[in-house]
Amino acid sequence: MQEKLKGIQQEALRALEEVDSLDALDKWQTKYLGRSSALMDVFKSLASLSKEEKPLVGKAANQVKLALEKSSGEKAAQLEARRIQESLAGEKIDVTLPGRSITSGRLHPTTQTLREIYRIFGDMGFQIYRSQEVETDLVNFQLLNFPPHHPARDMQDTFFLKSERDRADNPLMMRTHTSPGQIHAMREHNRKYPEDPPPIRIILPGMCYRYEQITSRSEIQFNQVEGLAVGKGITFGDLKGTLSNFARRMFGQDVKTRFRASHFPFTEPSAEMDVGCFLCGGQGCSVCKGTGWLEILGCGMVHPVVLENGGFDPEVYSGFAFGMGPERITMMRHHIEDIRYFWANDLRFLEQF
Ligand code: PHE
Repeated sequence: MQEKLKGIQQEALRALEEVDSLDALDKWQTKYLGRSSALMDVFKSLASLSKEEKPLVGKAANQVKLALEKSSGEKAAQLEARRIQESLAGEKIDVTLPGRSITSGRLHPTTQTLREIYRIFGDMGFQIYRSQEVETDLVNFQLLNFPPHHPARDMQDTFFLKSERDRADNPLMMRTHTSPGQIHAMREHNRKYPEDPPPIRIILPGMCYRYEQITSRSEIQFNQVEGLAVGKGITFGDLKGTLSNFARRMFGQDVKTRFRASHFPFTEPSAEMDVGCFLCGGQGCSVCKGTGWLEILGCGMVHPVVLENGGFDPEVYSGFAFGMGPERITMMRHHIEDIRYFWANDLRFLEQF
């Protein structure tokens, strides 16, 4: 029996030497230590042995079992170490490779300009008033002192909407400018403060729509930022001071401004504000078309008819208004030659800002 055990051990150890994978080791264990292995048969046969033989064979069999378990444990550790080493070698990282940069989103250039405009007027005590994009002819034109057939209405070709509310004399339309918001804001303010309303100081940003030929200079959809101040004793001096201050904060402390007489039906007097070209410093370049000046906005004192339409007595109250195009300002600041880039969603354009 002792001989047989020695034979089992020798054969098992020889077989173990050839084991070279964890799978093979599994099979080896079943074969040499499993329930139906030769070694187990020896344990099973103990019962039939004599009293003298039993402890001797039992002890020897146990030693063989321990020896095989120890060797297979060592083999398992060896194979595991080799597996880890191989997988590490396969996943080797080349630390000299250039890194992959993370692409992060950014704000649209118009949004960046809008936020700067909000911040500057916010500092001066202006609040943001959001007005509607769908308007009526009444508010977009008539209450702003454009009578029906006024030639100024030709300036703004319009998208009209078909709807049940449509009336021939007051069709629904997309607003052509942010100025109709002036009427809504003044009326709302008067409803809120029926007696002796406090001054209004607001900017009205938002999208406007014009049914025009799309060119590098004009889009059918664009933003405007309207401004409105109404109160007692507001003068053209306040208008100039506010807008010059805005220009200095927006374009730099030493920017020059000039006001040119202009005409809008809803302001009287009316003006346009130019800033000295910040690209050529007034020398004349392609952006300012050689004039040294860039037109930034339209403005004026709120027309008495408009004040009245908003519910303010023009004998007691006065105000100023202005309107500017943030896309146009962005184009000037960044020397963008074509307004169509703003809506093209071309990342090569957007990623520059
Ligand atoms: N609404 C005018 C436009 O669209 C701009 C403007 C606003 C002019 C307010 C004067 C006062 O061109």
